[in-house]
Amino acid sequence: MLSGRTTLAKFLVEQLRGHTGQHDLVSLLNNVANAVKTISSMVSKGALDGNLGSLGTENAQGEIQKKLDVLTNEVMLGNCEWSGQLCGMASEEMATPYPIPQQYPQGEYLLVFDPLDGSSNIDINMSVGTIFSILRNATDAAPSEQSYLQAGAKQLAAGYALYGPATMLVLTLGQGTHCFTLNRESGHFVLTHPNLKMPAHTSEFAINTSNARFWEPPVARYVKECKEGASGPMGRDFNMRWIASMVAEVHRILMRGGIFMYPRGGKDAALPDRLRLLYEANPMAMLIEQAGGMATTGRQRILDIPPQQLHQRVPVILGSSNEVKRIIRYHTEHDNGIDRPFVSPLFQERSLFTQDC
Ligand code: AHG
Ligand code: MN
Ligand code: MN
Repeated sequence: MLSGRTTLAKFLVEQLRGHTGQHDLVSLLNNVANAVKTISSMVSKGALDGNLGSLGTENAQGEIQKKLDVLTNEVMLGNCEWSGQLCGMASEEMATPYPIPQQYPQGEYLLVFDPLDGSSNIDINMSVGTIFSILRNATDAAPSEQSYLQAGAKQLAAGYALYGPATMLVLTLGQGTHCFTLNRESGHFVLTHPNLKMPAHTSEFAINTSNARFWEPPVARYVKECKEGASGPMGRDFNMRWIASMVAEVHRILMRGGIFMYPRGGKDAALPDRLRLLYEANPMAMLIEQAGGMATTGRQRILDIPPQQLHQRVPVILGSSNEVKRIIRYHTEHDNGIDRPFVSPLFQERSLFTQDC
């Protein structure tokens, strides 16, 4: 019994009515929703199905794959390859794009995904997620790797599923960010948080501070000031969170505001950036912008980055707009050599340099 509430299927038909390719997008997104229901069921079994732990293999990026990284990738492929909307898929777990098998009809869309985000958390029963992005293949020809290298601003749809205490699907089709909760009894995703609008102002930040010694000065400056709280230039106290699952962090930020940063500077000098542009940064940036927030590298809007490689990594700073603007300003000041207030202790007086953002 839905009690008059809007299901995902109804929402998609209503939101896409009159759009070019409406039926194909509705079908494709319903397939994605079916895949995440299956994944939700798999991850909720914990250790019962013997699916936890590592597989012992490495993915395209040299990361050890969990069994569930591989299984969830297969669930996404199997649910989305057959129905004729797609001409290809790419994911974190596959070195090269996956062509739609010849026995299935070919469509005009490309699906890019991170089948299990935050998978380091899976063995300890913490929240994980699935992130996805839909692009249009620019030509009628079969897609090549180049076909996927489209700026995030070209995404037709983006979303994630969060496998937490409740399974939620958060989606944008370029007209707001909308949040659905899985009713496990009926099997429906029900619209519970339409048109999310996140606060512009926040006092909560999320960053892996074990990388602090590798950060660039603008990020170090911002985090230092957050930690100084009411006795520093911010003039108010901050809280810090770090779940190590981007989906969970972004969800918290969409719901109550905040800043998430995975900036340049990690422990592996060969990999200065952590998060992947096409299937982590771009879909999250679209969801955040559609909810009134901002997403940047510190120097460039995420959605404007022209991708160079399928598994390209980028710095990510996203969340409440006042704080993102402040961090962009710190990068600009640093790049122009005018961040003496941070660099020199003589210039750290609150009264001299306090600005709103
Ligand atoms: P994935 O599990 O898909 O590789 O992604 C994990 C990402 C992201 O979800 C999270 O924000 C970040 O890695 C955590 O990194 P640290 O372990 O360095 O904190
Ligand atoms: Mn991920
Ligand atoms: Mn992943």
